[in-house]
Amino acid sequence: MPRIVYVNGRYLPYARAAVHVEDRGLQFADSVYEVCAVRGGRFMDIAKHLDRLERSLGELTMAMPLGRRALEHVMREVAARERLVNGLVYVQVTRGVAPRNHAFPVPSVRPGLIVLARTRNQDDHTARQTDGVAVITVPETRWARVDIKTTALVANVLAKEQAANAGAVEAWFVDTDGHITEGSSSNAWIVNTDGALITRAADRKILAGITRIATKKAAAAGEIRLVERAFTLAEALAAREAFLTSAGNDIAPVIRIDDHTVGDGRPGPVAKSLLQCFYDVVDYEPAGR
Ligand code: PDD
Repeated sequence: MPRIVYVNGRYLPYARAAVHVEDRGLQFADSVYEVCAVRGGRFMDIAKHLDRLERSLGELTMAMPLGRRALEHVMREVAARERLVNGLVYVQVTRGVAPRNHAFPVPSVRPGLIVLARTRNQDDHTARQTDGVAVITVPETRWARVDIKTTALVANVLAKEQAANAGAVEAWFVDTDGHITEGSSSNAWIVNTDGALITRAADRKILAGITRIATKKAAAAGEIRLVERAFTLAEALAAREAFLTSAGNDIAPVIRIDDHTVGDGRPGPVAKSLLQCFYDVVDYEPAGR
């Protein structure tokens, strides 16, 4: 359980951290968020997360709740008060509090800001990387702008719940063309029968993952051939390897898709070699005072 949470200008004990009932984040999911990993007391690629936050806000014509340096300061302060060494820092920005009405409040109101840090179980994290994980596939049911990191995640929640009930850690969405778009909270990758590393190009059907960028860098460093294109479920089932990427997992090999074993059922050489240089291609910044 986190100790403290930053809510709208104040650092509050977790039990008292609350927002107004008419916050538009709660009423309409009219809000965006970021999840930035902390490893060994350092933020991973925080600048890229803040770039993406600015983009998400811009797409919804919302303003940054604080200047970028001030927001970074709050994230550092929350991480420091939480004594965070390995975990995640969540930033959520809402359009603010106003009487319920779908259209934007006029005049505009002060945006809401929540920053919360959570320690992760490093053993579970390492186990997912070394043992691999199972995924299921589900029909793509999300809205048409999943490239914006909004908190409108109920389709993702239902997919993840279905995965959990099937003993899997992730659900991969399959669109009406038979293409895998991405996971409910991660990007999807395969190594096909020709040995090419394939992940979908960052179009409007996926979130452009920050871990995805670092993984691309790791692939370039290891001279692994990368093709950015959509791939089908049939290709994934025939693949030599598969893995997922996200701030929560970094790179996690996928060893089962539905009832199908991927490759020989163990993390493959490409995922392993990417993991080996992944932590060297990330930009680090201190996550404390
Ligand atoms: N999820 N796709 C979706 C739908 C996601 O929610 C995420 C991240 C990603 C990977 O993005 P990144 O590499 O920047 O973490 C892709 C976060 C971790 C979450 O919602 O908890």
